[in-house]
Amino acid sequence: MHSNPTSPTTPLKIGLAGTGTVGQGVWRHLRGQADLLARRCGRSLEIVGVSSRNAAKAEAAGIPAALVTPRWEDLVARPDIDVIVELIGGVDDAFRLVKGALEAGKHVVTANKALLAERGGELFRLASEKKRRLLYEASVAGGIPLLQALREGLAANRILSLHGIVNGTCNYILTRMSEEGKDYAEVLAEAKKLGYAEADESLDVEGWDAAHKALVLAALAYGFWPKMASLSVRGIAGLDRRDIAFARTLGYGIKLLAIVKTVPSGRIEVGVQPTLVPSSHVLASVKGVFNAVLVRGDVVGDTLYYGRGAGGDPTASAVLSDLASLARDGDGACSSRFSGLWNEATPPGIASPDEVTARYYLRLTVEDRPGVLARIATILGERNIGISSVIQPEVMVAPGEAEGRVPLILMIHDANTRNFEEARAALEALDIVHGPAVSFRVEDFT
Ligand code: HSE
Repeated sequence: MHSNPTSPTTPLKIGLAGTGTVGQGVWRHLRGQADLLARRCGRSLEIVGVSSRNAAKAEAAGIPAALVTPRWEDLVARPDIDVIVELIGGVDDAFRLVKGALEAGKHVVTANKALLAERGGELFRLASEKKRRLLYEASVAGGIPLLQALREGLAANRILSLHGIVNGTCNYILTRMSEEGKDYAEVLAEAKKLGYAEADESLDVEGWDAAHKALVLAALAYGFWPKMASLSVRGIAGLDRRDIAFARTLGYGIKLLAIVKTVPSGRIEVGVQPTLVPSSHVLASVKGVFNAVLVRGDVVGDTLYYGRGAGGDPTASAVLSDLASLARDGDGACSSRFSGLWNEATPPGIASPDEVTARYYLRLTVEDRPGVLARIATILGERNIGISSVIQPEVMVAPGEAEGRVPLILMIHDANTRNFEEARAALEALDIVHGPAVSFRVEDFT
């Protein structure tokens, strides 16, 4: 039995699983803001148990030893706990914890985007069955109350697109490369020293963290859980600083964007890739570890959400907002509270590459002789792909690149993704083109 969370007189009793950076932030700020939260929610919020695999960490955070157990199972088994806050991270153990908590009749608050992206469908089905709430404001864009805005503030809108800078580590790396002209590897090493990158850095720089967040946003905006395997994911690992410089010459900055967008067929595109953004666009001015998400609704038009997307304090703020919502509204009556999603009449499904049209930046390393551009234009023209501009800088050949070879940068008109990929492969096969054809998506937000 769990206690009655809708009673205004009893405190909301919380079990906190995990005492890493975010867990410590939740502990600290829940206590620091206790009076304010109690006043606003009409009841107090109380952490009555904590699980931590590292007792020293819990002690250093000032958590009384009497509250701490090494096993999250002990929290799930306690009948007095109303809600478990899952901050242990990872997928398998976190899945067992969230499932166990829901089965035991508890609400759950989680910051775990990987868990939701991999197994969100199952967990929300279970939450719905058990009529418990599974809240996840902290899973995307840290302290920005974005999911709340999508769920409540934009409830009357069909979402046409979301473009998000949702990985602070990548945005930090791209900002430093752009502002200081440094190499990718050099800035990555500094980001690691500062503790920005995830323990497994590939989650950040290969785009997976942003992809998990894109999937959660897609689920919330479109009412179904796409499969991770259906997403197209590319990170910033190995990005060449020359592309940042060429993009700037063309009037663009490069950002790692999570893109969720309705395509003309009615299906949705969900993916992550380094993308050229006009230098004059507000997303281009988002610097360092900050996050920003541009949401276009069919009624409201464009809305923008900006703030700190990672770190103990901002993420704790999001976790506490979910706890405040539980303390205030308890079980609620609306079914989407339990499923976590809108009940869409027909979930749209994921678009195939044939259905996605975009503009592209393409950089080739070519031989510097007459006729080269004509051969390249022919290959593109045969696939109905137009060129909107070309630059061929005279310098900036990479170290070790052979004499007589130059970079050639083409801005490509709207092209179907499949056609563009085929053209790219055909260009790489030409004897006048050397090395890989480097390409990036271009978004003009028109
Ligand atoms: N590694 C993530 C980031 C942390 O850099 O944004 C928040 O999910």
